[in-house]
Parts: sequence; structure tokens; C-alpha cells
Amino acid sequence: MGDLVSAVLFVCLGNICRSPLAEAALRAEAAARGLDLLVDSAGTAGWHHGKAPDPRAQAVALRHGIDISGYRARQVTAADFRRFSHIVALDADNLADLRGIAPADATARIGLLLDFVAGRAGQTVADPYYGDDAGFDVTWADVTAGARSIADAAQASG
Ligand code: 4NP
Repeated sequence: MGDLVSAVLFVCLGNICRSPLAEAALRAEAAARGLDLLVDSAGTAGWHHGKAPDPRAQAVALRHGIDISGYRARQVTAADFRRFSHIVALDADNLADLRGIAPADATARIGLLLDFVAGRAGQTVADPYYGDDAGFDVTWADVTAGARSIADAAQASG
């Protein structure tokens, strides 16, 4: 993606499983490195607006020492495309949807989370919603790898 990484919005479908975990992982990574990054998450769909993350997502975050019970789901807005330097999709459907709704005056760079990770460009973070708890461990591993690489890019760009 290149360019200054200063404000990152993670986007999945419902904003209750994958993107809140990506938000949590990058917040933790930025705090550990003393990086001043704006971090948020949203969904392409508005179905879960105002809801806390899925209990299984809350549980996996808590297993890694992070409490995300206060997060609340929201839908992506047109303003997000100017407010964030980077809008990071969790999967290819989210990416296509974002490209479809991006307003003409969008300034954010739009791409896939795993594009930041060496050797994983083009890969997607699987939707764990209809699976079992183990799927959320895979999600956590993926978003943690992505968050580390985004933090690296932020340090390199800043
Ligand atoms: P997420 O997971 O996009 O990672 O938040 C999902 C959450 C809800 C649904 C699908 C995926 N849903 O169909 O309601």
C-alpha cells in the first residue's frame, strides 16, 4: 500500500468477528511500540449495528489479554474514505464491496489485510462466524500477523 500509515479502519462483513479482532490486535501492537495510530473497525453490512463483538471473538481476545467487550459494531460510511489513510478489508468480498461504495472524493488507500504480510498477498481472513471456536484462533493468528506488518509499515512510513 505504501504512503503514510496514520489511520487504519478494518472492515469485514458484520463488524462482530474479524474486524474487531484486527482492531484489537493493532491497538495492542501500536501501544506496545508507542505508535500514534488512529484505529477503528466497521462492517460492510449494518445488521449488527450497536452490538458488542461475538462472544467467541471476545473470548479469543481475552485469552490474549485484551478486553473488547466495549466495542460496538457500526457500518462503513462515506466519511470513512476520507478520515482514514488506510481502509483494510479482511476478505475479497469486503474489498469488492468497499471499492463499490467508495465515494468519488475518497482519499484512503483500500486493500486486503494480508497484503501487508510477506508471502500472503491476496489471501483472505476466513469468516469464522459459522464455524467453531478453533476458527477464531485462526482469525487471531491472521489478524495478529497483519497488525504486526501494519505497525512495521507505519513505523517505516512515519
Ligand atoms: P464478521 O463475521 O464479518 O467477521 O463480523 C460475520 C458476522 C455476522 C455474519 C456473517 C459474518 N452474519 O451473517 O450475520
